[in-house]
Amino acid sequence: MANQFEYKSFTDDNHYIQLCAEVMAIRARAEQPMACIRTYGCQQNVADSEKIKGMLFEMGFGFTDNADEADFILFNTCAVREHAEDRVFGNVGALKNIKRRHPSVIIGLCGCMMEQKHVTDRLYRSFPFVNLVFGTHSLHHFPELFYNAVTYGKRVYETGIDDKTVYEGIPTRRDGQFKGWLPIMYGCNNFCTYCIVPYTRGRERSRRFEDVVREARTMIESGYKEITLLGQNVNSYGKNLEENVTFAQLLSEIDKIDGDYILRFMTSHPKDCSKELIDVIAGSRHISTHLHLPFQSGSNRVLKAMNRSYTREKYLDIINYAKEKIPGVSLTSDIIVGFPGETYEEFCETLSLIREVEFTSLFTFIYSPREGTPAAKMPDPYTHEEKSKWFSELLRVQEEIAAKRCASMVGQTVRVLVEGKTDKDGILTSRTSGNIIVDFPGDEALVGSFVNVKITKARNWILNGELADQ
Ligand code: SAH
Ligand code: SF4
Ligand code: F3S
Repeated sequence: MANQFEYKSFTDDNHYIQLCAEVMAIRARAEQPMACIRTYGCQQNVADSEKIKGMLFEMGFGFTDNADEADFILFNTCAVREHAEDRVFGNVGALKNIKRRHPSVIIGLCGCMMEQKHVTDRLYRSFPFVNLVFGTHSLHHFPELFYNAVTYGKRVYETGIDDKTVYEGIPTRRDGQFKGWLPIMYGCNNFCTYCIVPYTRGRERSRRFEDVVREARTMIESGYKEITLLGQNVNSYGKNLEENVTFAQLLSEIDKIDGDYILRFMTSHPKDCSKELIDVIAGSRHISTHLHLPFQSGSNRVLKAMNRSYTREKYLDIINYAKEKIPGVSLTSDIIVGFPGETYEEFCETLSLIREVEFTSLFTFIYSPREGTPAAKMPDPYTHEEKSKWFSELLRVQEEIAAKRCASMVGQTVRVLVEGKTDKDGILTSRTSGNIIVDFPGDEALVGSFVNVKITKARNWILNGELADQ
């Protein structure tokens, strides 16, 4: 398909950064203006916050976790489940006191929740002390919006979806020094019936192949040891681009870049997960031996009602191919328990699939109705209490599987990336290519490098080890 998207450069908006820097230099409560950014939700939001921090940094901001000492407080919100929303509203309410103590503080909200009209209406009505609200499509506008909020003293709201444009070149300030997120596409076209994301993030659009490869190269050259390519459905990367490129080709192009690094990606959708992709992983130098492939439900009837476009059999077919081609592959997944109308028998099909695949770990959720999605209108006869019981059963089964999988690694020597210190003296924490955590005694100087570790003990889903010959 021809490219229906426009690619624009962020530099157009740059003069607002300068203006904001000048205003904030005068307005800051301390020597340097400080921002406190709290990010909820998935890695897409984390990556967006890193861009906002990039712009704030260019305005002269420093960063703090303490909202009380900030000149600007921003919550980057998530709408995926009810619980995520409630937390945000609770925390926004608590900011009222800070505003009372420091009236000059600018309070902002952005992210997926801001693309839901019922949310922004409620905010406008109930939280007049919120100065700035913008949605997922206004990142490139942030300097101008921030400037307006600071200088005109009026509430600034900018929401709504523009999913026709991809902005390149927004400054980024990554949280991690050696682990970094790299968005390769935005939005989602899948409309799974339970999910709000297509409404909050708009249609799927891929970044240009050469832009992604260039950014990966820059990250590797500047010392990043782990790069995670991000998208809601990375397997459909390239579908809107003029060049005929696939996600598998993108991965193998990045994999050609020399250096000591590991390449991860998320999230894969089983309907588009090709055998070509698995072959690329199997033959690569840098790609992790971990596949996060959410199946959501083990029942074909429920999968159909979810609009997931694959069957249990097709899912198992990809999994078995991955197990055959990638020795020791580590599999993880997302699961929803209690989708409207799911029966206990259908839930048991999810259990049997888990037993069959033997996942390393799972992200499990109880179904949460999202206003505006088709599933929210489906009859939902089972109570939350019943669903919670099934949920606990699922956790018990998975705990056994994870413990068994981890125990089978005792005695192996694995290569890990050392991520940091633990709260125990002299104990470091690290991660295997399969995304399993390994704690071991070692010197802090090892943080940010790859080492070989011999696994000595399994504690449920965490491993203990000791440094092995390098
Ligand atoms: N694009 C990714 C996932 C995005 S959301 C994918 O398709 O795999 C992350 C996870 O949240 C989903 O995989 C799903 O398991 C869960 N989720 C999404 N909407 C939900 C809802 N309404 N209730 C409960 N869980 C939900
Ligand atoms: Fe949501 Fe489905 Fe898109 Fe994932 S693929 S973001 S679950 S609609
Ligand atoms: Fe949440 Fe938006 Fe991600 S709804 S899960 S932050 S895409």
